[in-house]
Amino acid sequence: MEFRDLEDLIKTRRSIRRWQDKPVPEDMLLKAVELATWAPNGGNRQNWYFYIITGKETINAIADAVQASVDLMATWPEAAEFGDTFKSYSQFSTFFRSAPAAIAVASCRYQSIADRLLELREGVDPKAKEMREWRNIADSRIQSTAASVACLLLILHQMGLGATWMTGPIQAAGAIEKILKVKPGWEIVAFIPAGYPDEQPRPGKRKPVAEVAEVVP
Ligand SMILES: Cc1cc2nc3c(=O)[nH]c(=O)nc-3n(C[C@H](O)[C@H](O)[C@H](O)COP(=O)(O)O)c2cc1C
Repeated sequence: MEFRDLEDLIKTRRSIRRWQDKPVPEDMLLKAVELATWAPNGGNRQNWYFYIITGKETINAIADAVQASVDLMATWPEAAEFGDTFKSYSQFSTFFRSAPAAIAVASCRYQSIADRLLELREGVDPKAKEMREWRNIADSRIQSTAASVACLLLILHQMGLGATWMTGPIQAAGAIEKILKVKPGWEIVAFIPAGYPDEQPRPGKRKPVAEVAEVVP
């Protein structure tokens, strides 16, 4: 692969929220997930699990659960404070009902040796407590799972599929975990509706690199 092909792949990927009414072959999704598991991950524990959903009924059931959670939030008096912004949040959490397929990504908790040591020590040593807090901010299991999702989106794009990385549905994670019969100890952390795109969003915009990076000699 030429470098410019990689650049093109990265820069032409967009979040896709409208799909053609066309099923996505199961083996394509399985291949995409298999490649995504080559993502770097903490301690190579591969603490991820992918639910590849191709059934309309399951997607509808998940969309119903997310819609119910958004409807509930809309009844809270505090929601009025956010006006139309809340309406658009609601739309951005539920649009996936029309997706022909989706991948729900679960992650399980794990403790590295450092986490175990700091846990034993934090009660008696403020430095250990502080170190534990820093490690918790940079939660390895979420970073590892996120690395796989970032790869997955590029792979799906290269396959001609369009997808969106979603955390909006996570507010209904309890219901989603029941629908998918998620194993104990595992939690859904991302939801990715996918299919053949039925939209061509405008080219993406990014801040100039000088605004988001600096070279430290
Ligand atoms: C962690 C994460 C959570 C996201 N959650 C949602 C979501 O719930 N709903 C949604 O419509 N888009 C969601 N997105 C997609 C972003 O809105 C999108 O990536 C961003 O606007 C940049 O657009 P692009 O993906 O087309 O480059 C999420 C993206 C990330 C990385």
